[in-house]
Amino acid sequence: MQLSVEGVTRVFGRTTAVDRVTFAVDGPAMIGIIGRSGAGKSTLLRMMNRLTDATSGRLLFDGQDVLTLTGPARRAWQARCAMIFQQFNLVPRMDVVSNVLHGTLNRRATLPALLNWYPRSDIHRAIDILDRLGIALQATSRVESLSGGQQQRVAIARALMQDPRVILADEPIASLDPMNAQVVMDTLRRIQQEDGRLVIANLHTLDTARRYCDRVIGMRDGRVVFDGTPDLLTTDAARAIYGAGADFSEAATSTAIEALDAPSLAPAPTRA
Ligand SMILES: Nc1ncnc2c1ncn2[C@@H]1O[C@H](COP(=O)(O)OP(=O)(O)OP(=O)(O)O)[C@@H](O)[C@H]1O
Ligand SMILES: [Mg+2]
Repeated sequence: MQLSVEGVTRVFGRTTAVDRVTFAVDGPAMIGIIGRSGAGKSTLLRMMNRLTDATSGRLLFDGQDVLTLTGPARRAWQARCAMIFQQFNLVPRMDVVSNVLHGTLNRRATLPALLNWYPRSDIHRAIDILDRLGIALQATSRVESLSGGQQQRVAIARALMQDPRVILADEPIASLDPMNAQVVMDTLRRIQQEDGRLVIANLHTLDTARRYCDRVIGMRDGRVVFDGTPDLLTTDAARAIYGAGADFSEAATSTAIEALDAPSLAPAPTRA
């Protein structure tokens, strides 16, 4: 799998939210995008998934420019490139398994979808995925009765129903307490490695990116100012991303998975 982002730009009025972003990914990996608020992280992910149009640039996935796709081809890309959000975007009053089955809507006929008819094979698959993510027992519970970490795993399960090549996650742990944040990051890392998917996650802490990602892309004012492995994220590199006067409060441990770094917890995932 090859992803090539070439000069992708998005202008909103007088703001260049994303400014000629260029990078390439060859094969499955876990990539973290970091940067302060307003750096352009969400806009970049939204362009990749075609929720927002780019102003210019190309975004090639296995040689095809996904920025030019329209109609059914655009929807087919959105199914191959699932998105996960900070606020989960689930239907709170609906049960877990129905929320997960919504992940098949992209490839289903409209009428059965409207009537909530799902093939038995899809229901089995949904349960298998929930089981894999450790939340099968909650399958018939309403989403609103689950913890934040469980809800985010439901959102991941819904994404997995599409069997996506790429999973984009926009601040997937920003609304979670440290314990749930760790479970969700461990889950994303596991499905990335075990299934050979490409995961690109906007993360607001440097430490989480360091700990979970193969590669980190740092953005500032819409531009890529750092691109490398976590071990290259020196204080100088962090300063380039977050700004010279930064007190690193944005970069520091505000979700503090690291605060849980007790020996009793699972070890950090191995970096591929
Ligand atoms: N729909 C829009 N209309 C106008 N300006 C926008 C729009 N979306 C984003 N912007 C602007 O683009 C810039 C980048 O925003 P973006 O949301 O991509 O940043 P971000 O890095 O995701 O920030 P955060 O960490 O706060 O989520 C900001 O200046 C923002 O105000
Ligand atoms: Mg954002």
